[in-house]
Amino acid sequence: MSHVEDHDSVRRDFLYYATAGVGAVATGAAVWPLINQMNPSADVQALSSILVPIDAIEVGEQITVKWRGKPVFIRRRDQDDIDLARSVKLEELVDPIARNANLPPDAPATDENRTLDENGEWLVEMGVCTHLGCVPLGNKAGDFGGWFCPCHGSHYDSAGRIRKGPAPRNLDVPIAKFFDEQTIQLG
Ligand code: FES
Repeated sequence: MSHVEDHDSVRRDFLYYATAGVGAVATGAAVWPLINQMNPSADVQALSSILVPIDAIEVGEQITVKWRGKPVFIRRRDQDDIDLARSVKLEELVDPIARNANLPPDAPATDENRTLDENGEWLVEMGVCTHLGCVPLGNKAGDFGGWFCPCHGSHYDSAGRIRKGPAPRNLDVPIAKFFDEQTIQLG
């Protein structure tokens, strides 16, 4: 190896290591804020977020997805569902609190405070009866056009609000948002 070749080789190695070093520093800088934010709750929350495609759900249909080990109902309500839920006065409700994780804890249980969009077409709620945890039956079941829990006879309306039976609270609305027009993000 001539002196010139040797010099080039050393220079290449130096460049390689220098580049690798810069890369490592840059990566470290990019990763650190993420690690820094990883307190247990943020970590768990990020890992348990899921995206649910909703473009195939027709008006009046409901799908059930599993999220954090529990069923979640995603219902695309028809106009009857919406009109029925919006005709109810707060005084008629067993539980006047929205139980919507996306709103302040004392938000009232108006239909608007239960749904994901302003028009009230999309309702996302846990498919877990607030009495003892059975999965209620849907598709306008029960006396109030929403869900009926066959375990001990709880009736929920078309906004998932408890109206009759032993369940003490409205069905919980989980953390959810539109990821885009065709996708809902849970968590
Ligand atoms: S678990 Fe639903 S009514 Fe008891």
